[in-house]
Amino acid sequence: MTEQTTERQECEQAWAALAAHGEDIGGKHLRELFADDPTRGERMTLEAAGLYLDYAKNRATDLTLELLCDLARAAGLREAIEAMFAGERINATENRPVLHVALRNRSHTPVLVDGQDVMPAVNATLERMADFTRRLRAGEWTGHTGRRIRHVVNIGIGGSDLGPVMACRALRAFADRALTFRFVSNIDATHFFEETRDLAPEETLFIVASKTFTTQETMTNARTARQWLLDALRDEQAVARHFVAVSTNEAEVVKFGIDPANMFGFWDWVGGRYSMTSAIGLPIMAAIGPERFMEMLDGFHAMDRHFREAPFERNMPVLLALLGVWYNNFFGAQTHAVLPYDQYLERFPAYLQQLDMESNGKGVTKDGMPVARQTGPIVWGEPGTNGQHAFYQLLHQGTKLVPADFIGALRPAHALGDHHAKLMANLFAQTEALAFGKSAEAVRAEGVPDALVPHKTFAGNRPSNTILMNTLDPHALGALVALYEHKVFAQGVLWNIHSFDQWGVELGKVLANRILGELTGPAPDPAAHDSSTRALIARYRQAHGRI
Ligand code: F6P
Repeated sequence: MTEQTTERQECEQAWAALAAHGEDIGGKHLRELFADDPTRGERMTLEAAGLYLDYAKNRATDLTLELLCDLARAAGLREAIEAMFAGERINATENRPVLHVALRNRSHTPVLVDGQDVMPAVNATLERMADFTRRLRAGEWTGHTGRRIRHVVNIGIGGSDLGPVMACRALRAFADRALTFRFVSNIDATHFFEETRDLAPEETLFIVASKTFTTQETMTNARTARQWLLDALRDEQAVARHFVAVSTNEAEVVKFGIDPANMFGFWDWVGGRYSMTSAIGLPIMAAIGPERFMEMLDGFHAMDRHFREAPFERNMPVLLALLGVWYNNFFGAQTHAVLPYDQYLERFPAYLQQLDMESNGKGVTKDGMPVARQTGPIVWGEPGTNGQHAFYQLLHQGTKLVPADFIGALRPAHALGDHHAKLMANLFAQTEALAFGKSAEAVRAEGVPDALVPHKTFAGNRPSNTILMNTLDPHALGALVALYEHKVFAQGVLWNIHSFDQWGVELGKVLANRILGELTGPAPDPAAHDSSTRALIARYRQAHGRI
């Protein structure tokens, strides 16, 4: 019997043991689990890299966690983690290593790709970024007319946008307020128009961020930006002072007309959605300064080390991954809510959507077979308390099970009145209400008429994790993002899928390019599309006078 077959068998046994255990405890209410073990709330907690995780409000016992950790071992998670850190080509369908951990390797130990240490290049890029952002922040890097740069516009999409937007918002309290930061991603011209309409071109710097430098949205927006600048400054020479590029593709950067001296590179072993600690983080560094950026890298690195070194039972990303698998695969949960009780984290759920759904939204196993079990969940969320007045009704009384992560900071960014105590009271209250609900007897005891009792009853037993940080600072943000990066990776290993490719985005891109020609050029061949798509194209052509 091959090693692989034995591993697969062990894995299937672990899945089966969990299924049997699920039958046993599936019906057990969180009320009972807490009553059975009064120390649960203190015991089922964990601290790592400055973050505190309370996972007590999960429909899980010690045995559940043991069995889940058995699954992780049987699935080869330990070996997979080592393979990633060792620079093995674990992104097999693109034949690439996956080494975002090297970008924040603050121990500076060598990280080898094909026998070559990548750390000197990583550190050299960080130094160039630091030099550039220092000059920008000090007003030494001026625009073409000698005016100080006051506005930074990042043009990118997906991984070249979501991380920087999320982090620039999250760390606004640490940002240089003399600079404004805008982000243009959508191909819809409205995005470019609205984000630039009040900016002075002579004070604006564009960062064109694209790993490939071929992405339709980014290149279209970048060309529009170039024209916008030249319409105002009327001198091609101005481009050099107002455009910098972040990419792995120097040839395309040069073709676009950006001097390679104004380019910050990264490498094909950095996945787009794992790239915010590469040069893609340039707007973040411009906002908070190089020192704070390094603190953020320290936070990432602390979580990286924890992920690599801690036993699974005490490993925060692994526990989150396993609990996610528990609900996804044994309770039929289709979605996972991320609910930050911090306005500065308003874009965190959107960031996580790409990280998680582009990584684990896969339907075939590593060997190309259809998956036998459910893979990545639909990730969604909004900052608390706004969500409470919108969708929490469904979380509390709806028919769907929605496991949730609640995220908060113990100290506020702005100590205004009693806002923060109220914010955190709401966070804690929601996890309590979800878990324990309110029984019909308790409702009746309040004198509620019988007819209303079912409507006012809360079944409870709705699981959540709570993640707390001291303050939302660069270190904490780094640790938080790394926590989810590794959670997603670990889940991919458990489901035996490739988490680092994204072939599912390709078909739409190809078809859009074909349809573009059919909207703007000669009428398409009637046989080229189905009747619905054909009618939509015809309708567009008609609206533009092209019958
Ligand atoms: O949506 C697909 C995708 O390839 C993402 O994975 C990536 O983050 C995004 O497009 C942008 O790609 P690029 O940085 O090459 O412009």
